[in-house]
Amino acid sequence: MPRFDADGVREEWDYAADAYAKGQSEGRDYYRLEFFGPYQIAMMGDVAGKALLDVGCGAGYFSRAMHERGAKVTGIDISPRMIDHARETGPAGITYEVLDAAAIDKKFPAASFDLATACLSLQDCPEPGRVLKAVAKVLRPGGRFVSAIEHPFSSMPFRQWQRGDDKKTKKWLCVDRYFERGAIPYTWKRWSYEFTTRALHVTLEQWIDWTVEAGFTIRALREPKPTEEALRSQPELEDATRVPYFLIFDLTAPAAGSAR
Ligand SMILES: C[S@@+](CC[C@H](N)C(=O)[O-])C[C@H]1O[C@@H](n2cnc3c(N)ncnc32)[C@H](O)[C@@H]1O
Repeated sequence: MPRFDADGVREEWDYAADAYAKGQSEGRDYYRLEFFGPYQIAMMGDVAGKALLDVGCGAGYFSRAMHERGAKVTGIDISPRMIDHARETGPAGITYEVLDAAAIDKKFPAASFDLATACLSLQDCPEPGRVLKAVAKVLRPGGRFVSAIEHPFSSMPFRQWQRGDDKKTKKWLCVDRYFERGAIPYTWKRWSYEFTTRALHVTLEQWIDWTVEAGFTIRALREPKPTEEALRSQPELEDATRVPYFLIFDLTAPAAGSAR
């Protein structure tokens, strides 16, 4: 397995990109498409006319949603193959760049964007603390960063559902080693081919420290649960009504002139 650094992550997601883009276009990723994605989109409110940066945009799922709502979107991702898919899907009004999120502030001038988003990508970056600092710099003072991550309470190094005698019923989620920091592998099964990617597990305390060190203030923290409609469409989402799988940070960038 490659190192969990910029090169390793690029290699991993480049390999994943074809299956990931195809699976998303076929609706396979229902946790994102029917559950936390719509929740995060609703949190964005009115984005019309706003300059928006989508960090770790992948094949462009969230960028397209923001473009459809009238934002002027720039999507960046470390994986060239993901960006190929995003550009192919379009529309042409979205600007896509291959870029390591840790270098956002080298590429874009300070205060370039009104808003930034990251749809389950920040914990895939090897250095989320650096990314948060870079995003703070390219946001205008008081701009918002809305970022969904895997909830640290359910992304632990040991995580396993205890099943009933029928081997299907999920009785309870066993978790352990919360305080152990690490890049946790996840194998995406039942896609057009199997691939493994890694996401960084750190404590909630560490996420808050990174956020504060970057100069952000927290407007809200959200722990989404699936709607009744999503549950009717995808009954398998029932487990997400019992365990917090996702955490969405709604952050405000520092005021002009404040230390970062
Ligand atoms: C789970 S995918 C999410 C993609 C997209 N936001 C979506 O909702 O479909 C995570 C993405 O983060 C990207 N990524 C990982 N590390 C990155 C980094 N350092 N800089 C930019 N993108 C990165 C990966 O290439 C991948 O496309």
